[in-house]
Amino acid sequence: MQNEFVCPTLCRGGRGLMVEQVALEDVAARFGTPVYVYSRAALTAAFEAYRHALAGHRALVCCAVKANSNLGVLSVFARLGAGFDIVSVGELARVLAAGGRADHVVFSGVGKSREEMRQALRAGIRCFNVESASELARLNEVAGEEGRKAPVALRVNPNVDPKTHPYISTGLKNNKFGVAFGDAPALYRLAAQQPNLRVCGMACHIGSQMLDAAPVAESARMLLGLVDVLSKEGIRLEHIDLGGGLGIRYQDEHVPAVVQWLEPLLEVFKGRTEELVFEPGRSLTGNAGLLLTRVEYLKLGEEKNFAVVDAAMNDLIRPSLYDGWHQTVEVAASGEPSRAYDVVGPICESGDFLARARSLAVKEGDLLAVLSAGAYGMSMSSNYNSRPRVAEVLVDGKTAHLVRERETVESLYALERVLPL
Ligand code: LLP
Repeated sequence: MQNEFVCPTLCRGGRGLMVEQVALEDVAARFGTPVYVYSRAALTAAFEAYRHALAGHRALVCCAVKANSNLGVLSVFARLGAGFDIVSVGELARVLAAGGRADHVVFSGVGKSREEMRQALRAGIRCFNVESASELARLNEVAGEEGRKAPVALRVNPNVDPKTHPYISTGLKNNKFGVAFGDAPALYRLAAQQPNLRVCGMACHIGSQMLDAAPVAESARMLLGLVDVLSKEGIRLEHIDLGGGLGIRYQDEHVPAVVQWLEPLLEVFKGRTEELVFEPGRSLTGNAGLLLTRVEYLKLGEEKNFAVVDAAMNDLIRPSLYDGWHQTVEVAASGEPSRAYDVVGPICESGDFLARARSLAVKEGDLLAVLSAGAYGMSMSSNYNSRPRVAEVLVDGKTAHLVRERETVESLYALERVLPL
């Protein structure tokens, strides 16, 4: 039987919803709302599921920083020995500040600047996942200037359909990501001849929120075919990076356990010696976090009822941007009748909603928890409508740690200047 909630460490106690042993009422009273709340136990369990499934294999699990880049969260993974997948030197700085190891970092992304390459080389990252011929040439130049050899994998685009939302599908020909499968052999030969590059791996990432590993297994087979062609030519690769992509349960999706997800992939790698690298994001942090918000007003109408809450699309943009569905639940029983509500924020956009047509029993002043918000929640937040970004709290057993202070309004315009006249 599935847990009532998508998050494994969430439960109902005498004082309403609890994350581990902390009541959300207390989090709201102490830190205010809206606030993101994460569970250390849930983060740890999600990472350990990968480690467990990969036991006996040479493998590195690189947590995708873009999903959740809070230092407190990253430090949990760093302590567990995780690697990290970054897409900017901003993310690299976060990893290092959180105690992560540079030599466990892979650097993805189509637009690495010279300065980013320089800083990543100086830090000594594990690998650059290069996405174009021009990037390869630039990296060779920058590495030459730095007197270093840059470790390189090509991100290959296998043109395999991940069968997910088009905005988060990345491995098709019409996506901007990676080098075309057919161009990869020539690019590898070129890379192998460059004085300042060390060709060490091959990478691919085809999409996100995937529920079936078959497209990834198919991509892996294609990659290995290419690896073997290159090996015959003397270009030997040490690792294969299969990216991230495993989905989570938001609603009623049937999500494979990590061990089931990895099984067909490990099957493809049977008897191989290359180290395996993964870049999971959502499956590590998504269901380890929620957004806690308070109902400001109830607007009951003829056609629709609205629960206007203090969180908004700037805090969690997934519903507005991808039509993302997040389980939204009352923190405590209110004794009110259940009604169908759209849960909306204070932003001046009709697209500012967190949940639509949900049956909720609430009154003004009550707390709601928007679940599955630990991935691509705070990391995609903005200051739209001059709203300070919210606080983040990491629960560890009985203790709630503030891992990011709520922004102040003054900090929002601290870098701006009024014209002198
Ligand atoms: N590696 C690379 C190169 C990626 O581009 C991504 C995600 C990941 C790893 C992590 O993928 P995951 O395991 O989280 O699926 N904002 C969207 C998701 C965008 C995913 C972008 N790339 C959302 O909220 O659904």
